[in-house]
Amino acid sequence: MPILNRVAEMQEEVAGWRRHLHETPELLYDVFETSTFVARKLKEFGCDTVESGLGKTGVVGIIKGRHGDGPTIGFRADMDALPITETSGKPWTSKVPGKAHSCGHDGHTAMLLGAAQYLAETRNFKGSVAVIFQPAEEGGAGALAMLDDGMMDKFGIKEVYGMHNAPGMPVGNFAIRKGSLMAAADSFEIEIIGNGSHAAAPHLSIDPVLASAHVIIALQSIVSREVDPLKSLVISVTTTHGGTAHNVIPGSVTLTGTVRTLLPETRDFAEKRLTEVAQATAIAHGAKAEVNYHRGYPVTFNHDNETEFAIGIASSIAGAAGVEANTPPRMGAEDFSYMLESRPGAFIFIGNGDTAGLHHPSYDFNDDVLPYGISYWVKMAETALAA
Ligand code: NI
Repeated sequence: MPILNRVAEMQEEVAGWRRHLHETPELLYDVFETSTFVARKLKEFGCDTVESGLGKTGVVGIIKGRHGDGPTIGFRADMDALPITETSGKPWTSKVPGKAHSCGHDGHTAMLLGAAQYLAETRNFKGSVAVIFQPAEEGGAGALAMLDDGMMDKFGIKEVYGMHNAPGMPVGNFAIRKGSLMAAADSFEIEIIGNGSHAAAPHLSIDPVLASAHVIIALQSIVSREVDPLKSLVISVTTTHGGTAHNVIPGSVTLTGTVRTLLPETRDFAEKRLTEVAQATAIAHGAKAEVNYHRGYPVTFNHDNETEFAIGIASSIAGAAGVEANTPPRMGAEDFSYMLESRPGAFIFIGNGDTAGLHHPSYDFNDDVLPYGISYWVKMAETALAA
């Protein structure tokens, strides 16, 4: 049976929580009402420990099994919304102007709450389950903040799993892959410093505009000539700023952009070569380049054994045909990557059906997905921690 009976019974109640969260979206670390709601529910369910304030506004609940000692396994959901004005037209549309749950984190939170309720009722496992609710996935690195507060060691978490809904994939289906699932997302700023002059006397200048043009082109040679074509690298220069008048050569030009990679070694290489190529190209034009490279979320890298395990759990719900076990990587980024750097684990996509895409103003999480996501967590706990 793909979905547990008790989980099917819970659907309306969990959908009610989901719609409540949807109406009251909060951004980044300011998820005060959401985390209060989550902590209150976890206490109502009878979790053995409920700790708030990890990573500013994160919440962890611990549920002990009734079959004795064993390891602790962590399941993570994100709680934050986006600065978007919702246009879904649903009865539970956001009541907060300019904020909306356009990435479905309301659904992720509701599914993990549903699993916590089930697991606290049944406790048919040994060891413990840690349900992790994090703030600030959307650009604030809330996962890292919870790690920095010592979450993994404090609760003795040995493995960690995460989930994200995927519009366009059928409800009840899953997609996952071993290794790199989502990209690292870095950003850079390159200031090319020359020497300004009258535009009619270029020989008196060191022209940063011309140097910046060469830098932009040279950066693409890293992608096309220096990296294995099967190892993805994107370098996009997305802004260029410099100059104030048509007849003045400016003193400097600033470029900014993004770097996306799927392997840690490609990322390290891109950072090193972007810096070297920008500096050397500037020097070739008599100018100099100051490079600031900022590392954002790392590669979301699924561990082999834990991915195999996750595929088995997903298959028990969706059947083998409902699990895409070698889905192509995606160039978006996800801060669950920090947790996967800290502990073995795996991140999986769950189908949201034929809905608007993530971060689209008309997007809404599909409540039909709830029992599949809850079943995934419950079966994962009862299998990983089988008595
Ligand atoms: Ni998201």
